[in-house]
Amino acid sequence: MIDLCLANCKIPSKHDNYYIGVDEGKIVEIKKSPMTAEKTIDLHDKIILPGLIDAHVHFRDPGLTYKEDFKTGSQAAANGGFTTVLDMPNTVPPTNTVKAFKEKLDIASKKSVVDFGLHAGVSDLEEIEKIADLKPASFKIFMDLFENSFLVDVFKRFANLPHQYTISLHCEDKHITKHCSEELKNENDPKIYANARPPIAEVVSISAAIALSEYYDQKIHICHVSTKKSLELIHQARINDYPVSCEITPHHLFLSDSYFDNCGNFVKTNPPLRDINNRLDLRYLNKIDIIGTDHAPHSMEEKNKDLWEAPSGIPNLETTLPLLLNQINNGQMSFQDIIWLLCEKPSQIFNLAHKGRISVGMDADFVVLDMDKEWTIKPENFYSKAEYTPFEGFEVKGMPIMTIVRGNVVMEDNIVFKNQGHCVFD
Ligand code: DOR
Ligand code: ZN
Ligand code: ZN
Repeated sequence: MIDLCLANCKIPSKHDNYYIGVDEGKIVEIKKSPMTAEKTIDLHDKIILPGLIDAHVHFRDPGLTYKEDFKTGSQAAANGGFTTVLDMPNTVPPTNTVKAFKEKLDIASKKSVVDFGLHAGVSDLEEIEKIADLKPASFKIFMDLFENSFLVDVFKRFANLPHQYTISLHCEDKHITKHCSEELKNENDPKIYANARPPIAEVVSISAAIALSEYYDQKIHICHVSTKKSLELIHQARINDYPVSCEITPHHLFLSDSYFDNCGNFVKTNPPLRDINNRLDLRYLNKIDIIGTDHAPHSMEEKNKDLWEAPSGIPNLETTLPLLLNQINNGQMSFQDIIWLLCEKPSQIFNLAHKGRISVGMDADFVVLDMDKEWTIKPENFYSKAEYTPFEGFEVKGMPIMTIVRGNVVMEDNIVFKNQGHCVFD
């Protein structure tokens, strides 16, 4: 007998109700008639989606666990309907050596309640090949921290590896951000932060990234695109068939720089929120590959410091899906958009062979939705240690009510249970 039957599931794009059979963590059957199983969960016609994949989280573990750790971060993921997360390397120590990478794998294997993969950092060129053997999701480079000369060395090095690896990029030009920030150092109104790292810093950096990608035929993934001009450049690169993919965050999708007025440093993020002439919104989603949350938690104490002292970053794992479900209820998005942007496409870009689709043979990762639930976003209900959000007070319709990782229920009615997440690349 199989382990689990999910009964009366509503799968978007399919008529009728379905029964999904799960055995040993995999989907083994999808059919219109009931099946016997050790355990049956009746979903009462609720919508079921593949578990969401967040290709961009910062769980701060090791080294900065007062902001977040792999347990609380992954609990936040489960609470938000995410079943797989890919963690960024800017921890302490950074995940840019074999030793640090193995240490973080060990931490995540013990603490994560959802499945995970790790992005590797890049510092010492000699380490790249060694880390590659440990199967990072990608190699992440913060272009605001490096000179173009170093980037050329890195791309050259990758071009000589036996396999193609994806390079994920934070695109802001080092010199432009430094120059513009210095000009504004004496001001302390959070609003001017958008000018400290202006759109042109991103545009210059993305242009360089695309040029490097073309020249070295290197697959790149451009994180958190924030301006129209950036997206135009990326779109053109794709028309030319360069191997470039891109991501948008929920804050760049839903907010503009006007949020500095009410939220101050709580919307301070890199790249910054943009004004209405430069910002992107839902109308541009058809040119974007994935939504990545860039879940970047900090402590309240840090965020309450003055503009230049406060760190950048917004926690998003527990607000992203509700905000998107609300857009579906408003007729601005479809379930297929969510499945594409947060399941199928991230799975393709980062080679998560068993994730992102509800079909036989795939991992039994799901999120179940209550599309009628009306509620107000409150950071005090977060599992994340970062109890702030610019979306506080937003009234939304639609909520994830159950998250299932490889057949195990890890969240029900916003209670997160114990579970042992696996590395997706094992
Ligand atoms: O706002 C940001 N916060 N942008 C980044 O690129 C890093 C992130 C963080 O780690 O806090
Ligand atoms: Zn970034
Ligand atoms: Zn980030």
